Amino acid sequence: MRQPVYLDYSATTPVDPRVLEAMLPWFCERFGNPANISHSYGREALQAVQKARQELAKLLNAKPHEIVFTSGATESNNLAFKGLYTLLPEKNQVLTVATEHKAVLCSAHALEAQGFEVEVLPVNRQGFVDPGLLAEKISPRTALVSVMMVNNEIGNLQPIAEIGALCRAHDVLFHCDAVQGGGKLPIDVEALQIDLLSLSAHKMYGPKGIGCLYLRHRDPLIPLKACIEGGGQEGGLRAGTLNIPGIVGFGKAAELALAELEAERLRLQTLRNQLYQGILNALPEVYLSTPLESSSPAILHLCFPGLSKGRLIVALTDLAISAGSACSSASGKASYVLEALGLESDLSNNALRFSLGRFTTATEIESAIHSVIQTVAKLKAKPSKLPF
Ligand SMILES: Cc1ncc(COP(=O)(O)O)c(C=O)c1O
Repeated sequence: MRQPVYLDYSATTPVDPRVLEAMLPWFCERFGNPANISHSYGREALQAVQKARQELAKLLNAKPHEIVFTSGATESNNLAFKGLYTLLPEKNQVLTVATEHKAVLCSAHALEAQGFEVEVLPVNRQGFVDPGLLAEKISPRTALVSVMMVNNEIGNLQPIAEIGALCRAHDVLFHCDAVQGGGKLPIDVEALQIDLLSLSAHKMYGPKGIGCLYLRHRDPLIPLKACIEGGGQEGGLRAGTLNIPGIVGFGKAAELALAELEAERLRLQTLRNQLYQGILNALPEVYLSTPLESSSPAILHLCFPGLSKGRLIVALTDLAISAGSACSSASGKASYVLEALGLESDLSNNALRFSLGRFTTATEIESAIHSVIQTVAKLKAKPSKLPF
């Protein structure tokens, strides 16, 4: 049976064969623990970790000792928020945005039990937070501002440089969940004035179960405390024996992404535009959720008025796509992200996310356009008897 065309790279990516090749020796032959450097097994593992740390630092224009390895971006986001309780009682306010990933929103709300006040800022109809509103909300009590780089559902790029400058001017820590931009867009934590940043390997052709938190090394140090305690690994910020194959794979994924970044960004942009134009030419009623020029080249989010996402997903059998993030996909319910945009239910209940990646070809895009057009025509000709 032919596999469906994979257009769900925002959910996860396959491991690049070059990444797998780099990882393989670190399972059976080179299995040392980098915390035990009294022998060569441990020392070579430590060197491999140092190399990966360097590759990630290069990807972000950071320093190697500013990279803290975690189990993924969910953990990185949890650490960025929950580890900052040390700022209490002087700083007790956290500002974030309604369209953030649940790993950010849940971590922020978890701080309320400790006495933090969490303010979730609204977005406009295209998904953008207003830096002017953020400036009004920042006060001497603000501990942290957290705004994502690329929205995982609709793909819009938040004004990170402007927000970074605003936070720095007010001496407020700035965290950015950059999972959907990692390895796809240029990220320079110095230029963007970011203090904490989350990345995940499995969104950039590395393995699942590994990620990192960039933590700016400044004077005075950011008083972050570990959420997982034990043997004091990762500078005391994340205990537990390091996942060496995962870290080596993440480092290789970062090296490849950086080397290919600009060419791949342009290639994806062309394919994404081709997909949009192809669908729009045949179906002028489709609604583009956010402008392409201020979006990730890897994400196209469209609403199909009159056709529920549940029916569309079920009928588009030859495409592996999603109706949004994993939690709302095909559930029949509108996503909280689309609700935050204020979209009418005929749009928010009828939305699909197409996400492209390194192995997407022009032929696959042509075939996806054809499938969408055919399927929409079929569904329009046969109204649903189901409640969705
Ligand atoms: C924007 C964003 N943040 C965080 C995460 C969580 O990442 P991980 O799967 O590494 O925990 C995801 C993954 O879906 C994401 O898209």
